[in-house]
Amino acid sequence: MIIARSREALREILDLMSGSIGFVPTMGALHIGHRSLIEAARRENDIVVVSIYVNPTQFLAGEDLSKYPRKEEADFKICELSGVDVLFYPESMYESDEVSIKAPDVRGYILEGASRPGHFDGMLTVVMKLLNGVRPTRAYFGKKDAQQLALISQMVRNFGMNVEIVPMDTMREGDGLALSSRNIYLDEVQRGEALKLSASLKEATKMVMQKNFGTQSIQEAMIEVLKPLDVEYVAIVNRQFEAISEVVLGDTIVLVAARVGTTRLIDNVWM
Ligand code: PAJ
Repeated sequence: MIIARSREALREILDLMSGSIGFVPTMGALHIGHRSLIEAARRENDIVVVSIYVNPTQFLAGEDLSKYPRKEEADFKICELSGVDVLFYPESMYESDEVSIKAPDVRGYILEGASRPGHFDGMLTVVMKLLNGVRPTRAYFGKKDAQQLALISQMVRNFGMNVEIVPMDTMREGDGLALSSRNIYLDEVQRGEALKLSASLKEATKMVMQKNFGTQSIQEAMIEVLKPLDVEYVAIVNRQFEAISEVVLGDTIVLVAARVGTTRLIDNVWM
């Protein structure tokens, strides 16, 4: 595995290689969710590139940028063992006073974008830089960050970028907790409370299986399951992230964001 620590070094390495490139952008503290993306990239491409960069512009003031888990040694090992060819591990991705991407007014400023205004601007900007730096054939993103995935797909469409965005299913612990780099903030009691997020989504799935398609009653039932967590939102939208009153199978995402202690967690299920 070759480690590139600057955009120039990355280009020098990739320009010497030929074949399809599968790219997995991450912020490190790699877990099984990240690994499933890397493994898919490995299966479907000649060359696998992973980036690890904790992007400061997608964190709001007062968020966990300074304490975001950094696990360089373990991450390098996971990449190496997963068959990554090139690890892009830049010190910085920015100069001062830059051009940046702005998330769309509505879709970029609801749900996660309302809770974290500006988060998606920073996320899209760094993803644009990463995609332009790597120039992959395919880039892999988790459905766990459903709104992020939708916005990246929109950016690629709006800017006519030549890359296939591949959505990947959410990986979970045996008890249902969605894997997240932020789970390490949870103590044992909080980890138990965090299960309410996936439990609320199971309740939603159960209701839909019983043909209860009304989104209002599903949301009410989810809020009951989530008690006494500090819920930021429970939402049911279509794949375009528009609110809907009835679940349509094949075109619905049920999302939840809640705080467990000071840790903010998100989860969702695609129906
Ligand atoms: P990060 O949170 O490190 O996630 C990297 C990728 O892993 C994202 O596409 C995310 O959706 C996916 N992922 C996270 N948890 C997952 C799980 N449990 N199952 C499957 N996939 C999972 O998302 C980011 O980094 C950043 O915003 C980034 C896109 C790298 C831009 O900075």
